[in-house]
Amino acid sequence: MSQILVSTIRSQYLDFFKSKQHAIIPSAPLVPENDPSVLFNTAGMQPLVPYLLGEPHPLGKRLADVQKCVRTGDIDDVGDDTHLTFFEMLGNWSLGDYFKRESIEMSWEFLTSKDWLGLDPEMISVTVFEGDANAPRDEESADIWKSIGMPVDKIAYLPAEDNWWAAGPTGPCGPDTEIFYWMGEGKPPHGSNKGTDSKMWMEIWNNVFMQYNRVDATTLNNLPAQCVDTGMGIERCAVTLNGMKSVYETDSFAPVLEKIKQIVGENNYNERSARIIADHIRTATHMISDGVVPKNMDQGYILRRLIRRAIREAYKMGYELPFASEIAEIYIAQFSSIYASVANNAEKIKTELNLEEGKFAKTLKDGVREFEKIVGGFKIAFERSGQQITQISGGKAFTLFDTYGFPLEMTVELAKEQGLSVDIEGFNVAFEKHQELSRTASAGKFVGGLGDNSPETVALHSACHLMLAGLRKVLGDCVHQAGSNITAERLRFDFTYGEKMTPEQIKAVEEYVNTAILSELTVSIDNMDKTEAKNGGVEGAFWEKYPDIVKVYSMKGADGVTYSRELCGGPHVENSREMGKFRIVKEESSSSGVRRIKAVLEK
Ligand code: SER
Repeated sequence: MSQILVSTIRSQYLDFFKSKQHAIIPSAPLVPENDPSVLFNTAGMQPLVPYLLGEPHPLGKRLADVQKCVRTGDIDDVGDDTHLTFFEMLGNWSLGDYFKRESIEMSWEFLTSKDWLGLDPEMISVTVFEGDANAPRDEESADIWKSIGMPVDKIAYLPAEDNWWAAGPTGPCGPDTEIFYWMGEGKPPHGSNKGTDSKMWMEIWNNVFMQYNRVDATTLNNLPAQCVDTGMGIERCAVTLNGMKSVYETDSFAPVLEKIKQIVGENNYNERSARIIADHIRTATHMISDGVVPKNMDQGYILRRLIRRAIREAYKMGYELPFASEIAEIYIAQFSSIYASVANNAEKIKTELNLEEGKFAKTLKDGVREFEKIVGGFKIAFERSGQQITQISGGKAFTLFDTYGFPLEMTVELAKEQGLSVDIEGFNVAFEKHQELSRTASAGKFVGGLGDNSPETVALHSACHLMLAGLRKVLGDCVHQAGSNITAERLRFDFTYGEKMTPEQIKAVEEYVNTAILSELTVSIDNMDKTEAKNGGVEGAFWEKYPDIVKVYSMKGADGVTYSRELCGGPHVENSREMGKFRIVKEESSSSGVRRIKAVLEK
């Protein structure tokens, strides 16, 4: 049987839904246009949230699309058979039009009809939501599956962990029914389904019945209309249809791996390194096409990290010349007819990759040599004195960072490969010292998203963090930051919460902040392992957008109380004595499920 191409799946999917009266809408750019809370779209539904919440869509109530998404949460797994940092999500949408029956019936027809994908129904099993305190057991979906011929033993009822979908802590959500394909030899044995035999079934499609709007941890409202959001990852679908083992066998990647083999030479070729390069340069291509450039913060930082990681993988295979734009060319050819952003930015993509490669190559080789010297020193010490050193000092890690442009997480990665750890605390000390120096050097520069760097603005920034801690204390842990804007005159702060605050609550938050200020707080910043920080109760929203090593800032009073501990890089006041008196001047709705506070510091 000849191979089914990714582009065929993409066009068949859109044709099918066109034949079902869906309007085809273009992918939104990777960087969300109206949502500062996430760096990249991570799901097909993200750009459609306003319409799920009730705003009428200009193209009607039935839509289908292919949405570009980036997820970097599992970046360490890239190189295995399934994980990718960039993927395209095929989606069909009902905005208050059809619901469970038609959605399930259309999915079934597209998957199994000989006119479309023609998959063998016996190879498919499904799951439905088993029910909990939020919503009932989804017998309706199960009945629909039975009515179209799904055997009862191929329907598994699973809990919210598997069969409830939401893009974030608040917003549209609901139970889903997921469709799986058997990956084992031959036909699945009798009674096998995702619930009984989960490793053998690959999820290919997720139909979410968006029916609710999560306002906060305890409030789940109904959406104005019952909606459907479905998602099917295009490469996974290709793997299934072609009976492959890995996404890298599909025509999206196979030619790229071939090219990498050519570039580095067959003898040096390493499959895992090549997969990482193929994935990262593909993601980088799309990021640049949507306007991201390598930088030391936000989207640009993620892009930089991807490119630098790819370069390092090439070094591991002994290849030290520029190669990224050659790889990008394959992707530019693949995607130019699908995304105008890629076609229009072909030159820019290559230039940015070349520039970043140049910047990094200059220091990388020396850096790796320096790293090897450090490790070599450990070996010599062991041979001479039997002393076993297992940790790279903070000072050395900082030299690698400062002189050789190694992000700390890269040193940690390199160390791990040698069975070594890194003294992150020690790195922090060196890093802070350096920060103090450069802060003095660049005083007045635009820092940390603040309007300016005046003492007034910095004080309001510190106040912002104390206020968030106060809000969480008074309103509950469902409160997270949704956005902020700070000038020398006032702070504006958006946070997730579903109701208007009462005057008592506002007063309690003011009191929390003012007590904190009066306790002569001092501020410290630490670099911490992200997982440790998260598990240790550090406050932060949207952890997935941060690198593995995060900056955690703490404000501690002379009374020994920690008033605020959050992901943040500053700048902050040195001592809260300087801050004055905090007052909330306005509390209002910002958007659905998000409140906005304006506040000032008075002398
Ligand atoms: N939002 C769901 C998902 O991303 C379905 O599109 O899986």
